[in-house]
Amino acid sequence: MTQSPNAPAAVSGKFVTFEGIDGAGKSTHVNAFVVALRQGLATVGRDVVATREPGGTPLGEALRKLVLDESMDIETEALLMFAGRREHLVKVIEPALARGDWVVSDRFTDATFAYQGGGRGLSRDKLSILERWVQGTRQPDLTILFDLDPAIAAARLAGARAPDKFERESAAFFTRVREEYLRRAEESGGRIVLIDAAQSIDAIAGQLADVFARLGLPGH
Ligand code: TMP
Repeated sequence: MTQSPNAPAAVSGKFVTFEGIDGAGKSTHVNAFVVALRQGLATVGRDVVATREPGGTPLGEALRKLVLDESMDIETEALLMFAGRREHLVKVIEPALARGDWVVSDRFTDATFAYQGGGRGLSRDKLSILERWVQGTRQPDLTILFDLDPAIAAARLAGARAPDKFERESAAFFTRVREEYLRRAEESGGRIVLIDAAQSIDAIAGQLADVFARLGLPGH
């Protein structure tokens, strides 16, 4: 199909995800990142879909409540994560990318490898099969991993709000989650960019601005 001369410049949609253990402080920065990205993309007529996992669709949000509140078999937990992900991909992520919009998701499949794989001990092979089934070849173009010592993360979380099922897990659990995130980062061929989340909010914002500059957006 040929583009009309008045169509927005051909900027293909990109899929960016944010990851990290609970308490690493990523959510504050996701929001600022989305605002900056939205401004950058407005010049080329593209939008940003800000979303999250578990969640991102009405069914996904219902599943989120179940997986965060109910205790369940670990394979059931992994299957529900991927069921919600399938719905999210089909209803939200793929259509947005097909329009040329960008998608920023607060967590995606790296979280399943880190939490259900590293944390709970579910086999990586099983998770890889589900990943392939649910996603085909779809992977994030860029993942920003907030890395933090679990002891510092626990101190940040303490008293913030009633902890969910994962937030109540032990320091040993979060150490395994962190190790799996770091292992995946090493093997990611540059897809996963590490942010030292022990830094000040300003320092992290500065590091994110550098990542942002590397995205090659118009006007940046
Ligand atoms: P959030 O509080 O960052 O939204 O994440 C909710 C929790 O769900 C968090 O503790 C990590 C967990 N989680 C998994 O265990 N597996 C997954 O696949 C995802 C996406 C999240």
